[in-house]
Amino acid sequence: MKFVTDIIGENLKIFELKFANAVKSNTSLLDTVMKYVIKRKGKQLRPMFVFLSAKLHGEINESTYRAAALVEMLHTATLVHDDVVDESMERRGFFSINAIWKNKIAVLVGDYLLSKGLLLSTSNNEFEQLHIMSEAIQQMSEGELLQIEKTRKLNIDEEVYFEIIKNKTASLLSSACGVGAFSSTKDLTVTKQMKLFGEKTGIAFQIKDDLFDYGNANIGKPTGNDIKEKKMTLPLIYTLNKVDKKTMKEIIYIVKNNNTDKEKVKWVIDIVVKTGGIKYAEQKMLEYRDEALNILNQYPSSDVNDALAALVRYTTDRKY
Ligand code: IPE
Ligand code: IPE
Ligand code: MG
Ligand code: MG
Repeated sequence: MKFVTDIIGENLKIFELKFANAVKSNTSLLDTVMKYVIKRKGKQLRPMFVFLSAKLHGEINESTYRAAALVEMLHTATLVHDDVVDESMERRGFFSINAIWKNKIAVLVGDYLLSKGLLLSTSNNEFEQLHIMSEAIQQMSEGELLQIEKTRKLNIDEEVYFEIIKNKTASLLSSACGVGAFSSTKDLTVTKQMKLFGEKTGIAFQIKDDLFDYGNANIGKPTGNDIKEKKMTLPLIYTLNKVDKKTMKEIIYIVKNNNTDKEKVKWVIDIVVKTGGIKYAEQKMLEYRDEALNILNQYPSSDVNDALAALVRYTTDRKY
């Protein structure tokens, strides 16, 4: 990651100031929550992708900064909403917004961040930027809703899993790379290619996130939350296809009815490990990582290209 900060460290510093400024509010409760959001910042991977995608094709400019701020605002908004939906009380190593201020406020705070982000584009007449990002917002909602639909019926297969993660997570990373490239080129062909690069990276990124949930490392948010929320992710989907019918039925029964029973959930996780579900998901993750790296290989080698490749590798090697 040092590689990345060597190249865009200064840009990230300026970005943080602009971001803090952009989310300010005159409403005191909102401002309190916003200060909390800024203090508990995340890894800021998406702004990094915006800056490097811009720099790979040209110069970072004001439009790039706006794109980075918009992307991080949308990302934060979706996390705030996601924790309400997932009933998750921890985020970024501390209490989630819903844990402190409850759901009603968390929903409205998410809306505020979303609209602030969109206004950043419209007030600067950045309509292409707005268009690219709005597509991502639509896909993210569709992805999260498709996920809810599937957790109700528990009939998810690999194809649907990829559809869900492409929509709920990869769409934003895809847009991040797209708006980054657009900000420095205004070229739609380049933008399209970088969107594809971001999509591949984003799919690998979410598989990694789902793998974290099967472990017990300290990642700043709860692990083991997915089965509790009846979310069947790639390791489990693979396992359900491998085991005999009786075991399959037992697993589904537990996910449906005993998903808070620690012993029973551990039994499921042990089977997932034993049947190679974790290994399989890791292998798929690396396939997507490599597809992203292959797109970068089509560009001439440069420091920026290397940094972008390092960032892709980080999304699958990271520890949190
Ligand atoms: C978490 O994203 C949400 C997912 C899409 C899995 P990040 O892991 O990038 O979250 P922060 O911003 O660093 O906290
Ligand atoms: C990603 O899914 C959420 C969004 C795209 C907003 P998760 O529900 O797995 O994300 P975490 O694990 O809560 O960060
Ligand atoms: Mg969640
Ligand atoms: Mg997760």
